[in-house]
Amino acid sequence: MTIFSEIKYDHRVILELFQSVEMTSHRSRKRELRKLGKMIEAHSRSEEDVLYRNLIQHRDARTLVLENYEEHHRVDLLLKDLEEISIEDDLWPLRLEDLRLALVAHIQEEERTLFKRAKKNLHNERTLTEMGHQFRALVNERLDHEVPSIHSHSERPDSITTGADAEETRNLASTGK
Ligand SMILES: [Fe+2]
Repeated sequence: MTIFSEIKYDHRVILELFQSVEMTSHRSRKRELRKLGKMIEAHSRSEEDVLYRNLIQHRDARTLVLENYEEHHRVDLLLKDLEEISIEDDLWPLRLEDLRLALVAHIQEEERTLFKRAKKNLHNERTLTEMGHQFRALVNERLDHEVPSIHSHSERPDSITTGADAEETRNLASTGK
């Protein structure tokens, strides 16, 4: 899978995890939030390592990439705010809604605008697939099996369902290819 498909897959997982924070029982909410936070952290940092760092070297993409770094930063701050307050706090639902809006806006921006610019600059299919492998390996490494719901996801792409593929992505990541 290309880096774009891998990232899109994670976006769906993130939105699903967000929904579980909203839907779960009162007492499980913080636990679900930590799961979401862990997933977002693994996803954003890996995206920055593999895609942003590469794309920012292309002059016509630089401003756009910087804006996307800022959006990640904003999501990180919103997550931190939410983690710090009690779910009993009247601010909790408002902050949760802020996070939802920021996530949806960022995901749309990335999939519509950033991917388009990336496709223009990184058009080699093999490069895009190798970046996809690197990205997936980094996300898995960072998650360290701490977000079980994505490992049992029914639509999980093949690249992370089979042991052989996981092994392959680990090798790619360790050799830096
Ligand atoms: Fe992102």
